[in-house]
Amino acid sequence: MKPSFAMDQEAVDYLNAIVASGKIAESCSLLGEGLSGKVYDFEGYAVKVYKENFCENDDHLMLARLHDHPAFPVLQYKGQNHQFMVADKVSGYTLAEILKSGEKLNEHTFRQIERHVEDCYREGIIPHDLHLNNIMIDHDKNVKIVDTGRFFYSDDKGVFKDKIETDLEMLKYHLGLFGFFSSSRRKYRRHRKHSYSSRSYSSRSYSSSRRRHRRRRKYHSYSSS
Ligand SMILES: Nc1ncnc2c1ncn2[C@@H]1O[C@H](COP(=O)(O)OP(=O)(O)OP(=O)(O)O)[C@@H](O)[C@H]1O
Ligand SMILES: [Mg+2]
Repeated sequence: MKPSFAMDQEAVDYLNAIVASGKIAESCSLLGEGLSGKVYDFEGYAVKVYKENFCENDDHLMLARLHDHPAFPVLQYKGQNHQFMVADKVSGYTLAEILKSGEKLNEHTFRQIERHVEDCYREGIIPHDLHLNNIMIDHDKNVKIVDTGRFFYSDDKGVFKDKIETDLEMLKYHLGLFGFFSSSRRKYRRHRKHSYSSRSYSSRSYSSSRRRHRRRRKYHSYSSS
């Protein structure tokens, strides 16, 4: 297991100094960039440096909450004045990079994401902003959710169930796994509207209703031909 970054005082001091001086880009390679900041590789860790005056700089709170979940990088250190944070680096690629390279993603990837979303939901965490740049696949083919900056906690998670489902459907569509606007999808949505509301948000109920729907469609197409 990698030692905790926070325990290495020399590395902590050095990192604080190069971030404060705005010179981190001179000595560390860029892993990626988003709306709220840039992420650099520092000694095999991912250092997220927030844009100046950017208010969304408390990813560390959610990462700390999700500390034991294997799909999230472990939080290692929170920089001074909310300027940056350090987490485990994911060795792999974002979903966006994978798709851009022409590689196809499969149902297994989506099911992993769905499971992680369900784990969050169970804990009252609403995984907002799950897009292709915020999800990576590591070299062991495990899904890693690298950006929890817009996740939030809710006491009334049920209110967000439909939104989470819609976000997942959108993600599936963007992964190239679903014809989002196909007529069969619309039929499915109609069917689900009547049958879903009393069920809990678990992978079993989610996918078994889908299987039922598939069976129903098959039967329907046989009988109407
Ligand atoms: N732990 C990590 N390991 C490896 N690469 C990472 C890690 N965290 C982030 N990245 C890379 O940096 C990019 C930007 O990181 P992140 O999504 O956290 O930034 P952001 O500014 O919050 O994004 P958004 O625009 O979604 O708000 C990611 O798309 C990914 O390529
Ligand atoms: Mg992001």
